[in-house]
Amino acid sequence: MKKYTILIAAVAAIGGLLFGFDTAVIAGTLPALRSFFKLDDAAIGLVVAAASIGCIPGALFAGNLANRYGRKLMMLVTAVLYVIAAVGSGIAGSFEQLVAYRFIGGLAIGMASTLAPIYISEVAPAEFRGRLGMSQQLAIVLGILLAFISNYVIDSAGWSFLSPENTWRYMLAAAVIPSVIFFVLLLLVPESPRWLIQRERHEHAHRIFGRIYEPSKAKDELESVKADLASSGHGLRFMEIFSAKYRKVVLIGVVFAAIAQLTGINIIFYYAPLIFEKTHVGGSVLFQTVLTGVVNLIFTIVAFWLIDRLGRKKLLLIGSAVMGICMMVVGVLFYTDKLDSYLVLAAIFVYIAAFACTWGAVLWVYVAEIFSNKIRGSATSFAIFGNWTANAIVSWTFPIMLNGLGAPVTFFTYGVINFLMIVFVAKYVFETKGVALEKVEALYERL
Ligand code: GLC
Repeated sequence: MKKYTILIAAVAAIGGLLFGFDTAVIAGTLPALRSFFKLDDAAIGLVVAAASIGCIPGALFAGNLANRYGRKLMMLVTAVLYVIAAVGSGIAGSFEQLVAYRFIGGLAIGMASTLAPIYISEVAPAEFRGRLGMSQQLAIVLGILLAFISNYVIDSAGWSFLSPENTWRYMLAAAVIPSVIFFVLLLLVPESPRWLIQRERHEHAHRIFGRIYEPSKAKDELESVKADLASSGHGLRFMEIFSAKYRKVVLIGVVFAAIAQLTGINIIFYYAPLIFEKTHVGGSVLFQTVLTGVVNLIFTIVAFWLIDRLGRKKLLLIGSAVMGICMMVVGVLFYTDKLDSYLVLAAIFVYIAAFACTWGAVLWVYVAEIFSNKIRGSATSFAIFGNWTANAIVSWTFPIMLNGLGAPVTFFTYGVINFLMIVFVAKYVFETKGVALEKVEALYERL
């Protein structure tokens, strides 16, 4: 692949990196926010969930907007929203303002969660497309880790100009740096040639193909995309994906994407400091939070090897079983009040490792590959919508459950959910390892 193509795909991937950063950065601010705005559990849940709630419309409408106005313009809008959210949350004067700016940030995250994969798939050569979902997840986990490092550095730097009661502001505003970089770099990337061809702007598309592929191949590529668009026609409209032929796979896709959140992974990534405050193993809770991000990154890289060897289904089954056991162990440790041992940290780290190399790795790959060409656009947005809805529910309810029902019941509940997921995966998830996108529809008859 040409360096230029890698570079422009990497710029789009910053959208995913900010997705990880903005969703996870809130974790480090929670103890301070609680006392600064005197928040109860439901209010804490809302500050966290506001971003996930914003993601729902963001993800749902980004595809259509990008079809109408182009991928590049909508990514620029996303970057502007990221900047507004970072600055706004940093200077928020009230709890309501903070929630509003988190919601705006959520719009951006939701948009990025659909736009980055679309853009990259349209500029990258076909043989690279398979690894696309994985690169999206890699960008997200890098963003999560960066947020945790940034929180830790801001908190522990002891910079005298940071008044302690305001450190949360700097943590949230830090996202302005990658957001502005994202905006500036986006100005330099070209529009997606595939979109230009849909708009009949062939000359312009040809010039871009000349830059992203070997110039001699530009003409062939233009012709092949034109032929492809002519033969696959326009994708089905939203309601049409529920016709008898597709209903089942669409439901499997949306439930799959939603339960990826019900694993409870983000109760760790959005609330780690609150959990580590309770486990009191000792040491800095923000440092332990950084470690969760490191484990996540390492095992996401491990997943690159696993996903095409073991296949999706096996990974998901193993992941749910290990995560279920870990949640049960954490529940038992809370129940027996054995919280000062390293066992509780170990159980949480194994849980994260298990998620990272199974559900985390498979999630974005699978939603992009189980739908045939005809339904992919609408069905993928619907699945991503399910993912964000479940994310919002989990993130809002967690602090309420933790303090209302108690930690043991909360973790046991997530343990049971993970075990139930084994049943769903065994019964409904079908293997797509090694199946060409054009052939996937043939699998639907056996569902
Ligand atoms: C996936 C999930 C995201 C989660 C991340 C953790 O990308 O969609 O919600 O935070 O994995 O690595």
